Amino acid sequence: SKGMEVRNMSFKVGQTMTVTGVCKPEAGTFAVNIGLDAENLAIHLNPRFNWEGKRNAIVCNCYRDGTWSDEQNHECFPFQQGKEFKIVIQFTQTGFMMKLCDSSTINFPNHLGANKYTFFSFTEDAHIISIEVK
Ligand code: GAL
Repeated sequence: SKGMEVRNMSFKVGQTMTVTGVCKPEAGTFAVNIGLDAENLAIHLNPRFNWEGKRNAIVCNCYRDGTWSDEQNHECFPFQQGKEFKIVIQFTQTGFMMKLCDSSTINFPNHLGANKYTFFSFTEDAHIISIEVK
């Protein structure tokens, strides 16, 4: 599903975003997207429980003018169906540093290169509880 969009919020270099949510009981996949608009995502953070050939893996990618770039795949998978999660995203000069519940870290470069993003969407099988930028 297209999921939920957050409006009137911005995320700038130097800031940290904390997202908490709950994975749906039968979750197959969900995604946290941050970008300029729906066609230009600086970061698509996509935990896959079982989706498009991947089990318990995290896929990260950048979406530019509606085209996916090169995927990053991660083996760490601190998500559980039906359970709460927290993702802490630090936006630095070079990119995004994402800390997950088991304190594993995923770094993703800021390929789109903007220093401020205003598009946020949360898709598929997670309920978002809170989003905080500070
Ligand atoms: C595609 C998938 C997209 C996105 C992308 C990331 O296969 O359909 O939703 O997750 O991979 O590279």
